[in-house]
Amino acid sequence: MRAVVLAALLLAKSPTSGLAATLSATPAQTFSAIGGSGAWWPNDLFNFPDAVRQNLSTLLFSQSGLGLSHYRYNLGSGGVGVTVPLHAPQSFYVSPGVYDFTADPQGVHFMQQAAAHGISSFTAFAISAPAQLTSNNLSCGGTFVPGTEAAYGTFIADVVSHFRSTGINIDFVSPMHEPDDSFAACTQEGMAVPIEQRADVINAVFAALQDQGLSDTVGILADESSTVALASSESSAWLPSVADKVVAIAHHLYDYPDDSSYTSFVDTVQSVAPGKATWMSDICCGLGAADGTGRAYAQGFDPTITNALMSSGVMFQSFVLAGEPQFDFWTLVSSSLGCSPLEDALCTTTPNSVGWTDGLIYYDPAFATNNNFALYITKHFWTFKHFGNFIKPGSVLIDIPLVGDDVTQTMMAVSTSTTYNLILMNPTTTDSVLTLSFPDTVCAVSAFRTSETEDFATVAAATQDEGSTAWELPLQSMSLTTFTFNRAAC
Ligand SMILES: *[C@@H]1O[C@H](CO)[C@@H](O)[C@H](O)[C@H]1NC(C)=O
Ligand SMILES: *[C@@H]1O[C@H](CO)[C@@H](O)[C@H](O)[C@H]1NC(C)=O
Repeated sequence: MRAVVLAALLLAKSPTSGLAATLSATPAQTFSAIGGSGAWWPNDLFNFPDAVRQNLSTLLFSQSGLGLSHYRYNLGSGGVGVTVPLHAPQSFYVSPGVYDFTADPQGVHFMQQAAAHGISSFTAFAISAPAQLTSNNLSCGGTFVPGTEAAYGTFIADVVSHFRSTGINIDFVSPMHEPDDSFAACTQEGMAVPIEQRADVINAVFAALQDQGLSDTVGILADESSTVALASSESSAWLPSVADKVVAIAHHLYDYPDDSSYTSFVDTVQSVAPGKATWMSDICCGLGAADGTGRAYAQGFDPTITNALMSSGVMFQSFVLAGEPQFDFWTLVSSSLGCSPLEDALCTTTPNSVGWTDGLIYYDPAFATNNNFALYITKHFWTFKHFGNFIKPGSVLIDIPLVGDDVTQTMMAVSTSTTYNLILMNPTTTDSVLTLSFPDTVCAVSAFRTSETEDFATVAAATQDEGSTAWELPLQSMSLTTFTFNRAAC
């Protein structure tokens, strides 16, 4: 009998739980940008029909797409010795002071597209120095050669100066991407920079930027360690002497740290370089449950809402827990589907264990032979669009302290002088409602939701009960919703 009643109740209405909060009146950090990297897909996508290239640029860079505000240009080292051609970007470096700026038309094309769509902040990042400046004269498997710091710094400053003169606002450089790894397998570029050389590289790049009058406008990001574990243990050895020459401590997240490891990293940086922001500049390839359970770097392709919410959880961790101002996904576009879309109708929408979850948009790895130039959009694209569309440079994070619960890492408010955007995730299988009070007068104007069946779909704006000052924000199970409010009376 009891079972029958329960079943009837479940049929009538899925369980709903309630949450209540009052938006803080105190701003947390100011956001700088949401971005991603142009590696290594430009080498393939450059060969696509122009209409598809244009569509891709719109999907990545315009507000009707992801609305990115930052783009990381991969400053190639020539790919000497790299066995995977896709991962071997050409280099502008010919010899000291001699450059060929017609090299890498693939990477430059998409950087120019980003600028043409209004992106005004770029990082030029190098995974390896030009092969001539590494210990093995290759773009992988070696280390940075002591004594070539000045030559390397000059190369970077000259390239940045060149592209700035063409109207592309490169305002950050990162001279050593994952210096903890030489990538000895040579399936991609890589160059180890031993800890004791990192300050020398930064000093040289800073001096070269200074020579060009760029040291106040182009900031150096370092050291892009692969994991926060490495960044935590190594930063005290290289950072103190160059802290004033680095604008932010960029790090990757390939250890998918738990909250206490992430917090401990941020605290370590604050003790070594007080006042320097930490900044998440590269992550991909995580698998795990929507609520973050089992989250880890792993091979496998998961284009579903499960991975989209798991990945959104990493962004909440970076913004809400670690207080970081910027988040850059790794490779925005990928062919690592692990299946053939022309031979398997479910390929692009079904998880498999042989692909990689390293892109937001995918393409057919066999495009060159089968002429399939389709672009395949994952759920992660749509959840990332919430962050790209609503977290703009200069907007501010506002915490949402929940009443009677300390789990705030699925919710954030982003404010400007005229709006609040509430980005709210419900990674559980239970529908919920957030009853939210504001410190000032607001009016609900719109809402967008991404779920298993919805892609940034327009849904009802938040509502207000008659006579109540609080607002009701429905949080459908397994979804990410953005509710927009004007900071004014209705
Ligand atoms: C790298 O090239 C330089 C210049 O050609 C040469 O002197 C040096 O021996 C080479 N190093 C290695 C490890 O091959
Ligand atoms: C762009 O690509 C997306 C994803 O394949 C597709 O849905 C859309 O129709 C394309 N738009 C244009 C203008 O080609």
